[in-house]
Amino acid sequence: MLAGAANPIENADLSEAAGRDGGNDHRLAFARDLTQCLAETPHIISPKYFYDEAGSLLFERICELPEYYVTRTELDLLQRDLPAMAQTIGPNAEVLEFGAGSLLKARLLLRALESPRRFIAMDISGAHLQAAAAQLQREFPTVEIIALEGDFNALDRLQGLPAIEPGSRRVGFFPGSTVGNLSPLEANRFLADSARLLAGGGLLIGVDLVKSPMVLHSAYNDAAGVTAAFNRNVLVRANRELDAGFDIDSFAHYAFYEPRLQRIEMHLICLRDQTVQIADRRFTLRAGESIHTENSRKYTVEGFRTLAASAGFTAKAVWCDPMQLFSLHWLASGVTGSEER
Ligand code: TRP
Repeated sequence: MLAGAANPIENADLSEAAGRDGGNDHRLAFARDLTQCLAETPHIISPKYFYDEAGSLLFERICELPEYYVTRTELDLLQRDLPAMAQTIGPNAEVLEFGAGSLLKARLLLRALESPRRFIAMDISGAHLQAAAAQLQREFPTVEIIALEGDFNALDRLQGLPAIEPGSRRVGFFPGSTVGNLSPLEANRFLADSARLLAGGGLLIGVDLVKSPMVLHSAYNDAAGVTAAFNRNVLVRANRELDAGFDIDSFAHYAFYEPRLQRIEMHLICLRDQTVQIADRRFTLRAGESIHTENSRKYTVEGFRTLAASAGFTAKAVWCDPMQLFSLHWLASGVTGSEER
């Protein structure tokens, strides 16, 4: 089982280093996290390291896969119910998207909202983000578009967030069920931190639902092998950035649904003994050993509303597709502000 304390992203130093600008800091944080991952058993690495430029592009391809119902279903749901969502959210929103990728969903939201003031796209992958934000600015000349490099795992240390404009309300946007990639403990912390950040506004958040394990299984085991390539990208990246020397082809993509924990687990299984090197440390991986790269937790509607309430939000409206595959929640934050704490 994944213990919270064994997870590298629990370590304050590492998250801090990863959140700063500059390639060297990123590389340093990656080296530290990967060292910790290989030194400990089970081997666990934060999924945030998937998302370099190549990883972000692979992820966009995942979203278009026939088996990966998540993106399609959420887009349909947005297309159908955005007028109602926009009504609920209200005018003069200052939208802050956590983990903004292609900004496709942001476009739909901005089009639906009544006089949105500002859009802040926050993501860990800076280069990808800049280009997407510049394009968005051309499409929405009256909305102030800001790209903010940052880690939603460390919202309490977020830097560079502009002060809210008078008369605006901050509205968080967290689509894609990315919250499912956090452990329950991390999800709770993310929600609590975002509730403070979004005081007086709220959060529109996409959450994937529990469903047939076969549907879940094929979503993370696509026939074309794109998810496998995405999974292995963390090793590709380690070889390129850290010269680690992984024999990438000797790692099997292994993803399965674990019903007791209500999550997809994604692993890389080593099939051939090998030695890799991170900075001045060498590690031996044996055939059969796993590097646990990601979880994707699934929720019931009620289960997620309970989690949101325990983090300080008031769970308001929820929208689901007819097949109950996916949900979008509007969570209101009545918290009066961070100065309270
Ligand atoms: N958060 C989404 C999910 O868990 C998207 C995602 C993140 C994903 N990492 C992934 C999808 C890896 C496929 C494989 O489904």
